[in-house]
Amino acid sequence: MTSSGTNRGTGPDGPSDPSAAWEVLLSAAAAPARARGRALQAALRDAVRSGRLAQGTRLPSSRDLAADLGVSRGLVTEAYEQLTAEGYLRSGRGAGTWVGGAVRAALPRARDLAPRFPGARADFVPGTPDLSLFPRAAWAAAQRGVLAELPHHELGYPDPRGLPRLRTALAGLLARRRGVVADPERLLVVSGVAQATALLGLALHARGMAAVGVEDPGSPQHSSLYAAAGVTAVPLPLDDEGPAMGALRASGVRALATTPAHQFPTGIVYSARRRAELLDWARAVDGFILEDDYDGDFRYDRAPVGALQGLDPERVAYTGSVSKSLAPGLRLGWLLVPEALAEEVVERKRTMDLGHPTLDQALFARFVERGDHDRQLRRCQRAYRERRDALVDALQEHFPGARVSGIAAGLHVIAELPRRYGPQGRFLERMAAAGIEVCALAAYAHACAGGDGNRVEGVCLVLGYAQVSPVRIRDGVRLMREAAGR
Ligand SMILES: Cc1ncc(COP(=O)(O)O)c(C=O)c1O
Repeated sequence: MTSSGTNRGTGPDGPSDPSAAWEVLLSAAAAPARARGRALQAALRDAVRSGRLAQGTRLPSSRDLAADLGVSRGLVTEAYEQLTAEGYLRSGRGAGTWVGGAVRAALPRARDLAPRFPGARADFVPGTPDLSLFPRAAWAAAQRGVLAELPHHELGYPDPRGLPRLRTALAGLLARRRGVVADPERLLVVSGVAQATALLGLALHARGMAAVGVEDPGSPQHSSLYAAAGVTAVPLPLDDEGPAMGALRASGVRALATTPAHQFPTGIVYSARRRAELLDWARAVDGFILEDDYDGDFRYDRAPVGALQGLDPERVAYTGSVSKSLAPGLRLGWLLVPEALAEEVVERKRTMDLGHPTLDQALFARFVERGDHDRQLRRCQRAYRERRDALVDALQEHFPGARVSGIAAGLHVIAELPRRYGPQGRFLERMAAAGIEVCALAAYAHACAGGDGNRVEGVCLVLGYAQVSPVRIRDGVRLMREAAGR
Protein backbone atom coordinates (compact mmCIF):
# COMPACT_ATOMS: atom_id res chain seq x y z
CA MET A 1 0.00 0.00 0.00
CA THR A 2 1.08 3.54 -0.43
CA SER A 3 2.22 5.12 2.74
CA SER A 4 2.22 8.70 3.86
CA GLY A 5 4.77 8.43 6.58
CA THR A 6 2.75 6.01 8.70
CA ASN A 7 4.53 5.04 11.87
CA ARG A 8 4.81 1.23 11.68
CA GLY A 9 6.89 0.81 14.76
CA THR A 10 6.04 -1.48 17.65
CA GLY A 11 4.88 -0.81 21.16
CA PRO A 12 6.54 -1.69 24.40
CA ASP A 13 6.09 -5.49 24.32
CA GLY A 14 6.06 -6.69 20.80
CA PRO A 15 7.72 -6.29 17.48
CA SER A 16 5.96 -7.07 14.24
CA ASP A 17 5.51 -5.81 10.77
CA PRO A 18 1.85 -5.00 10.67
CA SER A 19 1.72 -4.21 6.95
CA ALA A 20 -0.40 -7.32 6.27
CA ALA A 21 -2.94 -6.04 8.74
CA TRP A 22 -3.09 -2.61 7.11
CA GLU A 23 -3.93 -4.41 3.87
CA VAL A 24 -6.86 -6.09 5.56
CA LEU A 25 -8.03 -2.66 6.73
CA LEU A 26 -7.73 -1.38 3.18
CA SER A 27 -10.43 -3.79 1.99
CA ALA A 28 -12.70 -2.61 4.82
CA ALA A 29 -12.11 0.96 3.69
CA ALA A 30 -13.51 -0.01 0.29
CA ALA A 31 -16.87 -0.91 1.88
CA PRO A 32 -19.89 1.24 0.97
CA ALA A 33 -19.88 4.54 2.85
CA ARG A 34 -22.69 3.61 5.25
CA ALA A 35 -21.03 0.35 6.31
CA ARG A 36 -17.44 1.62 6.28
CA GLY A 37 -17.09 2.46 9.97
CA ARG A 38 -18.39 -0.89 11.08
CA ALA A 39 -16.30 -2.76 8.49
CA LEU A 40 -13.18 -0.97 9.70
CA GLN A 41 -13.87 -1.92 13.30
CA ALA A 42 -14.59 -5.53 12.38
CA ALA A 43 -11.42 -5.82 10.31
CA LEU A 44 -9.30 -4.29 13.06
CA ARG A 45 -10.86 -6.57 15.67
CA ASP A 46 -10.27 -9.57 13.45
CA ALA A 47 -6.63 -8.64 12.83
CA VAL A 48 -6.01 -8.38 16.57
CA ARG A 49 -7.87 -11.62 17.40
CA SER A 50 -6.11 -13.64 14.75
CA GLY A 51 -2.70 -12.38 15.82
CA ARG A 52 -1.93 -10.60 12.53
CA LEU A 53 -1.59 -7.48 14.67
CA ALA A 54 0.56 -8.78 17.49
CA GLN A 55 0.22 -7.68 21.06
CA GLY A 56 2.13 -4.44 21.64
CA THR A 57 2.01 -3.31 18.02
CA ARG A 58 1.78 0.47 17.93
CA LEU A 59 -0.93 1.72 15.61
CA PRO A 60 -0.47 4.71 13.32
CA SER A 61 -1.97 7.99 14.38
CA SER A 62 -5.59 8.36 13.34
CA ARG A 63 -4.58 11.07 10.90
CA ASP A 64 -1.94 8.87 9.17
CA LEU A 65 -4.15 5.80 9.00
CA ALA A 66 -7.08 7.82 7.66
CA ALA A 67 -4.82 9.21 4.95
CA ASP A 68 -3.43 5.77 4.11
CA LEU A 69 -6.86 4.20 3.88
CA GLY A 70 -8.51 7.15 2.19
CA VAL A 71 -11.24 7.41 4.85
CA SER A 72 -12.26 10.21 7.15
CA ARG A 73 -10.22 10.68 10.31
CA GLY A 74 -13.42 10.52 12.36
CA LEU A 75 -14.01 6.90 11.29
CA VAL A 76 -10.55 5.88 12.45
CA THR A 77 -10.88 7.75 15.75
CA GLU A 78 -14.22 6.07 16.33
CA ALA A 79 -12.75 2.63 15.54
CA TYR A 80 -9.84 3.20 17.95
CA GLU A 81 -12.21 4.33 20.71
CA GLN A 82 -14.58 1.41 20.21
CA LEU A 83 -11.82 -1.22 20.25
CA THR A 84 -10.16 0.45 23.21
CA ALA A 85 -13.47 0.20 25.07
CA GLU A 86 -13.68 -3.50 24.13
CA GLY A 87 -10.15 -4.16 25.42
CA TYR A 88 -8.54 -4.96 22.06
CA LEU A 89 -6.53 -1.70 22.00
CA ARG A 90 -4.95 0.49 24.63
CA SER A 91 -4.04 4.12 24.52
CA GLY A 92 -2.22 6.58 26.72
CA ARG A 93 -2.11 10.33 26.71
CA GLY A 94 0.66 11.31 24.34
CA ALA A 95 1.69 7.62 23.94
CA GLY A 96 -0.57 6.78 21.00
CA THR A 97 -2.56 3.59 20.55
CA TRP A 98 -1.30 0.01 20.58
CA VAL A 99 -2.65 -3.51 20.58
CA GLY A 100 -3.77 -4.31 24.12
CA GLY A 101 -3.13 -7.24 26.40
CA ALA A 102 -6.64 -8.64 26.69
CA VAL A 103 -6.46 -10.64 23.49
CA ARG A 104 -5.37 -14.10 22.52
CA ALA A 105 -2.77 -14.62 19.84
CA ALA A 106 -5.13 -16.78 17.80
CA LEU A 107 -8.64 -18.16 17.94
CA PRO A 108 -8.75 -21.47 19.79
CA ARG A 109 -9.51 -24.35 17.46
CA ALA A 110 -12.46 -26.62 18.33
CA ARG A 111 -11.63 -30.28 18.80
CA ASP A 112 -13.72 -32.99 17.16
CA LEU A 113 -14.75 -35.65 19.67
CA ALA A 114 -16.95 -37.58 17.22
CA PRO A 115 -16.05 -41.29 17.13
CA ARG A 116 -14.37 -41.81 13.76
CA PHE A 117 -11.64 -44.09 12.51
CA PRO A 118 -10.02 -42.16 9.68
CA GLY A 119 -6.74 -44.06 9.60
CA ALA A 120 -8.25 -47.55 9.81
CA ARG A 121 -7.29 -50.06 7.07
CA ALA A 122 -10.56 -51.85 7.75
CA ASP A 123 -13.50 -50.60 9.82
CA PHE A 124 -15.98 -53.17 11.15
CA VAL A 125 -17.20 -51.12 14.12
CA PRO A 126 -20.96 -51.76 14.44
CA GLY A 127 -23.62 -49.07 14.52
CA THR A 128 -23.05 -46.84 11.47
CA PRO A 129 -24.98 -47.00 8.19
CA ASP A 130 -23.40 -46.15 4.83
CA LEU A 131 -23.48 -42.37 4.94
CA SER A 132 -22.78 -42.17 1.21
CA LEU A 133 -26.27 -43.61 0.66
CA PHE A 134 -27.79 -40.47 2.17
CA PRO A 135 -30.37 -39.27 -0.43
CA ARG A 136 -28.97 -35.80 -0.93
CA ALA A 137 -31.01 -34.93 -4.04
CA ALA A 138 -34.36 -35.98 -2.54
CA TRP A 139 -33.45 -34.26 0.75
CA ALA A 140 -32.55 -31.03 -1.04
CA ALA A 141 -35.82 -31.15 -3.00
CA ALA A 142 -37.80 -31.66 0.21
CA GLN A 143 -35.91 -28.78 1.84
CA ARG A 144 -36.72 -26.43 -1.05
CA GLY A 145 -40.36 -27.51 -0.98
CA VAL A 146 -40.64 -26.94 2.75
CA LEU A 147 -39.04 -23.50 2.63
CA ALA A 148 -41.44 -22.50 -0.13
CA GLU A 149 -44.60 -23.73 1.57
CA LEU A 150 -44.07 -23.55 5.36
CA PRO A 151 -46.43 -20.96 6.89
CA HIS A 152 -44.63 -18.33 8.99
CA HIS A 153 -46.39 -19.43 12.18
CA GLU A 154 -44.75 -22.87 11.97
CA LEU A 155 -41.39 -21.22 12.62
CA GLY A 156 -42.58 -20.44 16.13
CA TYR A 157 -42.18 -22.82 19.09
CA PRO A 158 -43.76 -26.12 18.05
CA ASP A 159 -46.06 -28.45 19.97
CA PRO A 160 -43.47 -30.16 22.24
CA ARG A 161 -44.65 -33.50 20.84
CA GLY A 162 -43.79 -32.38 17.29
CA LEU A 163 -45.56 -30.91 14.25
CA PRO A 164 -48.99 -32.53 13.78
CA ARG A 165 -48.10 -33.09 10.12
CA LEU A 166 -45.06 -35.19 11.00
CA ARG A 167 -46.79 -37.08 13.81
CA THR A 168 -49.56 -38.00 11.38
CA ALA A 169 -47.08 -39.13 8.72
CA LEU A 170 -45.02 -41.10 11.25
CA ALA A 171 -48.08 -42.79 12.75
CA GLY A 172 -48.98 -44.05 9.27
CA LEU A 173 -45.42 -45.16 8.52
CA LEU A 174 -44.94 -47.03 11.80
CA ALA A 175 -48.34 -48.73 11.66
CA ARG A 176 -47.72 -49.88 8.09
CA ARG A 177 -44.09 -50.95 8.37
CA ARG A 178 -43.76 -52.05 12.01
CA GLY A 179 -47.27 -52.99 13.10
CA VAL A 180 -47.36 -50.50 15.97
CA VAL A 181 -50.63 -49.10 17.30
CA ALA A 182 -49.79 -45.53 16.43
CA ASP A 183 -51.93 -42.86 18.02
CA PRO A 184 -50.43 -39.56 16.78
CA GLU A 185 -51.54 -37.91 20.04
CA ARG A 186 -49.10 -40.09 21.98
CA LEU A 187 -46.28 -39.83 19.50
CA LEU A 188 -43.33 -37.52 20.16
CA VAL A 189 -40.66 -36.39 17.72
CA VAL A 190 -37.34 -36.62 19.54
CA SER A 191 -33.63 -36.33 18.77
CA GLY A 192 -33.03 -40.05 18.46
CA VAL A 193 -33.48 -43.13 20.60
CA ALA A 194 -31.00 -41.51 22.97
CA GLN A 195 -33.39 -38.70 23.88
CA ALA A 196 -36.35 -41.10 23.99
CA THR A 197 -34.41 -43.20 26.50
CA ALA A 198 -33.56 -40.18 28.62
CA LEU A 199 -37.21 -39.03 28.61
CA LEU A 200 -38.47 -42.47 29.58
CA GLY A 201 -35.88 -42.67 32.35
CA LEU A 202 -37.06 -39.33 33.76
CA ALA A 203 -40.72 -40.36 33.53
CA LEU A 204 -40.04 -43.66 35.31
CA HIS A 205 -38.07 -41.82 37.97
CA ALA A 206 -40.96 -39.41 38.48
CA ARG A 207 -43.25 -42.42 39.03
CA GLY A 208 -40.95 -43.65 41.76
CA MET A 209 -39.26 -46.43 39.77
CA ALA A 210 -35.65 -46.51 40.93
CA ALA A 211 -34.45 -49.29 38.60
CA VAL A 212 -34.85 -50.53 35.05
CA GLY A 213 -33.74 -53.90 33.69
CA VAL A 214 -31.38 -53.82 30.71
CA GLU A 215 -30.24 -56.63 28.43
CA ASP A 216 -26.88 -58.25 29.19
CA PRO A 217 -25.10 -58.13 26.81
CA GLY A 218 -26.71 -54.96 25.61
CA SER A 219 -26.30 -51.40 24.45
CA PRO A 220 -24.03 -49.44 26.81
CA GLN A 221 -26.03 -46.36 25.87
CA HIS A 222 -29.19 -47.71 27.47
CA SER A 223 -27.47 -48.15 30.82
CA SER A 224 -25.74 -44.80 30.85
CA LEU A 225 -28.82 -42.85 29.72
CA TYR A 226 -31.06 -44.43 32.35
CA ALA A 227 -28.41 -43.86 34.98
CA ALA A 228 -28.17 -40.19 33.95
CA ALA A 229 -31.94 -39.93 34.48
CA GLY A 230 -31.48 -41.22 38.02
CA VAL A 231 -32.69 -44.77 37.33
CA THR A 232 -30.30 -47.65 38.08
CA ALA A 233 -29.77 -50.03 35.17
CA VAL A 234 -29.95 -53.67 36.34
CA PRO A 235 -28.24 -56.05 33.86
CA LEU A 236 -30.37 -59.10 33.12
CA PRO A 237 -29.16 -62.20 31.25
CA LEU A 238 -30.58 -63.48 27.97
CA ASP A 239 -31.31 -67.01 26.80
CA ASP A 240 -32.00 -68.16 23.22
CA GLU A 241 -35.50 -66.65 23.23
CA GLY A 242 -34.88 -63.24 24.82
CA PRO A 243 -34.53 -61.97 28.41
CA ALA A 244 -34.43 -64.92 30.85
CA MET A 245 -37.76 -64.78 32.70
CA GLY A 246 -36.50 -66.24 35.98
CA ALA A 247 -33.85 -63.57 36.41
CA LEU A 248 -36.28 -60.85 35.35
CA ARG A 249 -38.88 -61.90 37.93
CA ALA A 250 -36.26 -62.27 40.65
CA SER A 251 -34.78 -58.82 39.96
CA GLY A 252 -37.80 -56.92 41.26
CA VAL A 253 -37.62 -54.31 38.48
CA ARG A 254 -40.88 -53.07 36.98
CA ALA A 255 -39.48 -51.72 33.74
CA LEU A 256 -37.36 -53.47 31.13
CA ALA A 257 -35.43 -51.98 28.18
CA THR A 258 -35.48 -54.33 25.18
CA THR A 259 -34.50 -54.76 21.52
CA PRO A 260 -37.00 -57.52 20.55
CA ALA A 261 -36.79 -57.42 16.72
CA HIS A 262 -32.99 -57.82 16.64
CA GLN A 263 -31.33 -57.93 20.02
CA PHE A 264 -28.30 -55.69 20.27
CA PRO A 265 -25.68 -57.05 20.07
CA THR A 266 -26.38 -60.83 19.97
CA GLY A 267 -28.68 -60.55 16.93
CA ILE A 268 -31.37 -62.94 18.23
CA VAL A 269 -35.05 -62.20 17.70
CA TYR A 270 -37.30 -62.62 20.75
CA SER A 271 -39.49 -65.71 20.33
CA ALA A 272 -43.30 -65.39 20.17
CA ARG A 273 -43.53 -67.23 23.46
CA ARG A 274 -41.10 -64.86 25.18
CA ARG A 275 -42.90 -61.82 23.83
CA ALA A 276 -46.15 -63.11 25.37
CA GLU A 277 -44.37 -63.92 28.66
CA LEU A 278 -42.88 -60.44 28.82
CA LEU A 279 -46.25 -58.78 28.31
CA ASP A 280 -47.81 -61.01 31.01
CA TRP A 281 -44.96 -60.04 33.34
CA ALA A 282 -45.46 -56.31 32.65
CA ARG A 283 -49.17 -56.56 33.43
CA ALA A 284 -48.52 -58.59 36.58
CA VAL A 285 -46.05 -56.08 38.04
CA ASP A 286 -47.94 -53.04 36.70
CA GLY A 287 -44.80 -52.15 34.80
CA PHE A 288 -43.54 -51.16 31.35
CA ILE A 289 -41.47 -52.57 28.52
CA LEU A 290 -39.31 -50.06 26.66
CA GLU A 291 -38.88 -51.23 23.08
CA ASP A 292 -35.88 -49.92 21.13
CA ASP A 293 -36.57 -50.74 17.46
CA TYR A 294 -33.20 -49.36 16.37
CA ASP A 295 -32.79 -51.39 13.14
CA GLY A 296 -36.18 -53.10 12.81
CA ASP A 297 -36.56 -51.95 9.20
CA PHE A 298 -33.82 -54.23 7.95
CA ARG A 299 -34.57 -57.92 7.66
CA TYR A 300 -33.17 -59.86 4.71
CA ASP A 301 -34.64 -63.37 4.82
CA ARG A 302 -38.33 -62.65 5.52
CA ALA A 303 -40.67 -59.83 6.55
CA PRO A 304 -39.52 -58.18 9.79
CA VAL A 305 -41.21 -59.28 13.00
CA GLY A 306 -43.78 -56.66 14.03
CA ALA A 307 -43.14 -54.46 17.04
CA LEU A 308 -43.97 -55.72 20.51
CA GLN A 309 -45.83 -52.47 21.11
CA GLY A 310 -48.55 -53.58 18.68
CA LEU A 311 -49.54 -56.34 21.12
CA ASP A 312 -50.07 -54.06 24.11
CA PRO A 313 -49.69 -50.30 23.56
CA GLU A 314 -50.53 -49.57 27.23
CA ARG A 315 -47.55 -51.57 28.50
CA VAL A 316 -44.95 -50.92 25.81
CA ALA A 317 -43.22 -47.63 24.98
CA TYR A 318 -41.82 -47.81 21.45
CA THR A 319 -38.87 -45.85 20.04
CA GLY A 320 -36.86 -45.70 16.83
CA SER A 321 -34.93 -43.23 14.70
CA VAL A 322 -33.49 -42.46 11.28
CA SER A 323 -29.97 -43.17 12.57
CA LYS A 324 -29.74 -46.43 10.61
CA SER A 325 -31.90 -45.59 7.59
CA LEU A 326 -30.66 -42.05 6.84
CA ALA A 327 -27.90 -40.73 9.12
CA PRO A 328 -27.26 -40.53 12.87
CA GLY A 329 -26.19 -36.90 12.45
CA LEU A 330 -29.79 -35.88 11.72
CA ARG A 331 -30.62 -36.63 15.38
CA LEU A 332 -34.23 -37.45 14.52
CA GLY A 333 -36.39 -40.13 16.05
CA TRP A 334 -39.78 -40.91 17.58
CA LEU A 335 -41.27 -42.15 20.80
CA LEU A 336 -44.73 -43.64 21.24
CA VAL A 337 -45.80 -43.79 24.86
CA PRO A 338 -48.51 -45.57 26.87
CA GLU A 339 -51.27 -43.32 28.18
CA ALA A 340 -49.94 -43.68 31.74
CA LEU A 341 -46.56 -42.13 30.80
CA ALA A 342 -47.74 -39.63 28.19
CA GLU A 343 -48.22 -36.49 30.28
CA GLU A 344 -44.95 -36.89 32.18
CA VAL A 345 -42.94 -37.58 29.03
CA VAL A 346 -44.43 -34.64 27.10
CA GLU A 347 -43.75 -32.30 30.01
CA ARG A 348 -40.12 -33.50 30.20
CA LYS A 349 -39.68 -32.94 26.48
CA ARG A 350 -41.08 -29.43 26.84
CA THR A 351 -38.74 -28.50 29.67
CA MET A 352 -35.76 -30.18 28.01
CA ASP A 353 -35.75 -28.32 24.70
CA LEU A 354 -39.17 -26.78 23.91
CA GLY A 355 -39.57 -29.16 20.99
CA HIS A 356 -37.68 -30.51 18.00
CA PRO A 357 -36.49 -28.08 15.25
CA THR A 358 -39.51 -27.34 13.06
CA LEU A 359 -37.78 -27.10 9.68
CA ASP A 360 -36.30 -30.58 10.14
CA GLN A 361 -39.69 -31.90 11.15
CA ALA A 362 -41.51 -30.39 8.18
CA LEU A 363 -38.81 -31.68 5.86
CA PHE A 364 -39.02 -35.22 7.17
CA ALA A 365 -42.84 -35.14 7.04
CA ARG A 366 -42.66 -34.28 3.36
CA PHE A 367 -39.98 -36.94 2.82
CA VAL A 368 -42.24 -39.59 4.35
CA GLU A 369 -45.45 -38.37 2.68
CA ARG A 370 -43.94 -38.46 -0.80
CA GLY A 371 -42.63 -42.01 -0.46
CA ASP A 372 -38.97 -40.93 -0.33
CA HIS A 373 -38.43 -42.69 2.98
CA ASP A 374 -39.79 -45.99 1.65
CA ARG A 375 -37.51 -45.64 -1.38
CA GLN A 376 -34.52 -45.02 0.90
CA LEU A 377 -35.34 -48.07 3.01
CA ARG A 378 -35.56 -50.27 -0.11
CA ARG A 379 -32.22 -48.92 -1.35
CA CYS A 380 -30.49 -49.57 1.99
CA GLN A 381 -32.10 -52.99 2.30
CA ARG A 382 -30.61 -54.05 -1.07
CA ALA A 383 -27.16 -52.67 -0.23
CA TYR A 384 -26.98 -54.12 3.28
CA ARG A 385 -28.22 -57.56 2.28
CA GLU A 386 -25.41 -57.72 -0.31
CA ARG A 387 -22.85 -56.58 2.27
CA ARG A 388 -23.99 -59.09 4.86
CA ASP A 389 -23.67 -61.88 2.26
CA ALA A 390 -20.19 -60.62 1.31
CA LEU A 391 -19.09 -60.63 4.96
CA VAL A 392 -20.45 -64.10 5.70
CA ASP A 393 -18.78 -65.51 2.52
CA ALA A 394 -15.46 -63.81 3.30
CA LEU A 395 -15.48 -65.14 6.86
CA GLN A 396 -16.07 -68.68 5.59
CA GLU A 397 -13.26 -68.29 3.06
CA HIS A 398 -10.62 -66.75 5.35
CA PHE A 399 -11.64 -68.21 8.72
CA PRO A 400 -12.95 -71.68 7.85
CA GLY A 401 -15.03 -73.00 10.72
CA ALA A 402 -16.11 -69.51 11.85
CA ARG A 403 -19.67 -69.50 13.20
CA VAL A 404 -21.85 -66.56 12.23
CA SER A 405 -24.91 -66.08 14.42
CA GLY A 406 -27.84 -63.69 14.67
CA ILE A 407 -30.75 -63.47 12.27
CA ALA A 408 -30.25 -62.06 8.77
CA ALA A 409 -31.13 -58.52 9.78
CA GLY A 410 -29.77 -55.14 10.76
CA LEU A 411 -26.27 -53.83 10.28
CA HIS A 412 -24.06 -56.32 12.14
CA VAL A 413 -23.31 -60.04 12.69
CA ILE A 414 -21.77 -61.99 15.52
CA ALA A 415 -18.75 -64.00 14.35
CA GLU A 416 -17.22 -66.66 16.56
CA LEU A 417 -13.79 -67.60 15.19
CA PRO A 418 -12.21 -71.04 15.62
CA ARG A 419 -10.35 -71.41 18.93
CA ARG A 420 -6.91 -71.35 17.35
CA TYR A 421 -7.26 -67.58 16.80
CA GLY A 422 -7.58 -66.95 20.56
CA PRO A 423 -7.06 -65.90 23.20
CA GLN A 424 -9.19 -62.88 22.46
CA GLY A 425 -6.90 -60.32 24.08
CA ARG A 426 -4.01 -61.23 21.80
CA PHE A 427 -6.27 -61.28 18.74
CA LEU A 428 -7.53 -57.76 19.52
CA GLU A 429 -4.00 -56.48 20.03
CA ARG A 430 -2.99 -57.81 16.62
CA MET A 431 -5.98 -56.17 14.96
CA ALA A 432 -5.20 -52.84 16.62
CA ALA A 433 -1.56 -53.06 15.54
CA ALA A 434 -2.67 -53.73 11.94
CA GLY A 435 -5.12 -50.79 11.91
CA ILE A 436 -8.21 -53.03 11.80
CA GLU A 437 -11.15 -51.77 13.86
CA VAL A 438 -13.22 -54.57 15.39
CA CYS A 439 -15.27 -54.93 18.60
CA ALA A 440 -15.49 -57.97 20.85
CA LEU A 441 -18.92 -59.20 21.96
CA ALA A 442 -17.54 -59.27 25.49
CA ALA A 443 -17.22 -55.48 25.43
CA TYR A 444 -21.02 -55.27 25.53
CA ALA A 445 -21.36 -57.55 28.54
CA HIS A 446 -22.01 -55.66 31.76
CA ALA A 447 -19.56 -57.83 33.67
CA CYS A 448 -16.71 -56.31 31.67
CA ALA A 449 -18.31 -53.07 30.52
CA GLY A 450 -15.66 -50.80 29.14
CA GLY A 451 -13.19 -53.71 28.99
CA ASP A 452 -12.00 -55.45 25.84
CA GLY A 453 -12.78 -59.01 26.80
CA ASN A 454 -9.12 -59.88 27.32
CA ARG A 455 -9.95 -62.68 29.70
CA VAL A 456 -12.10 -64.49 27.12
CA GLU A 457 -10.50 -67.57 25.53
CA GLY A 458 -12.37 -67.75 22.22
CA VAL A 459 -12.64 -64.85 19.80
CA CYS A 460 -16.21 -63.60 19.41
CA LEU A 461 -16.72 -60.38 17.46
CA VAL A 462 -19.56 -57.99 16.68
CA LEU A 463 -18.88 -57.00 13.08
CA GLY A 464 -20.65 -54.03 11.46
CA TYR A 465 -20.84 -54.31 7.67
CA ALA A 466 -23.21 -51.55 6.53
CA GLN A 467 -20.59 -48.80 6.18
CA VAL A 468 -18.20 -50.89 4.05
CA SER A 469 -18.55 -51.74 0.33
CA PRO A 470 -18.55 -55.46 -0.58
CA VAL A 471 -15.07 -55.14 -2.11
CA ARG A 472 -13.68 -53.55 1.05
CA ILE A 473 -15.42 -56.13 3.20
CA ARG A 474 -13.60 -58.92 1.34
CA ASP A 475 -10.28 -57.02 1.58
CA GLY A 476 -10.88 -56.25 5.25
CA VAL A 477 -11.53 -59.87 6.20
CA ARG A 478 -8.41 -60.94 4.28
CA LEU A 479 -6.37 -58.31 6.18
CA MET A 480 -7.89 -59.59 9.40
CA ARG A 481 -6.75 -63.14 8.63
CA GLU A 482 -3.22 -61.94 7.74
CA ALA A 483 -3.03 -59.92 10.95
CA ALA A 484 -4.33 -62.85 13.00
CA GLY A 485 -1.26 -64.76 11.81
CA ARG A 486 -2.60 -68.34 11.74
C1 LIG B 1 -29.18 -50.42 20.62
C2 LIG B 1 -29.16 -49.06 19.99
N1 LIG B 1 -30.26 -48.32 20.01
C3 LIG B 1 -30.30 -47.10 19.43
C4 LIG B 1 -29.21 -46.57 18.80
C5 LIG B 1 -29.33 -45.28 18.07
O1 LIG B 1 -29.56 -44.23 18.89
P1 LIG B 1 -30.00 -42.84 18.25
O2 LIG B 1 -31.34 -43.07 17.59
O3 LIG B 1 -30.06 -41.91 19.40
O4 LIG B 1 -28.98 -42.44 17.24
C6 LIG B 1 -28.02 -47.27 18.81
C7 LIG B 1 -26.84 -46.66 18.21
O5 LIG B 1 -26.06 -47.26 17.56
C8 LIG B 1 -28.00 -48.56 19.39
O6 LIG B 1 -26.90 -49.29 19.37
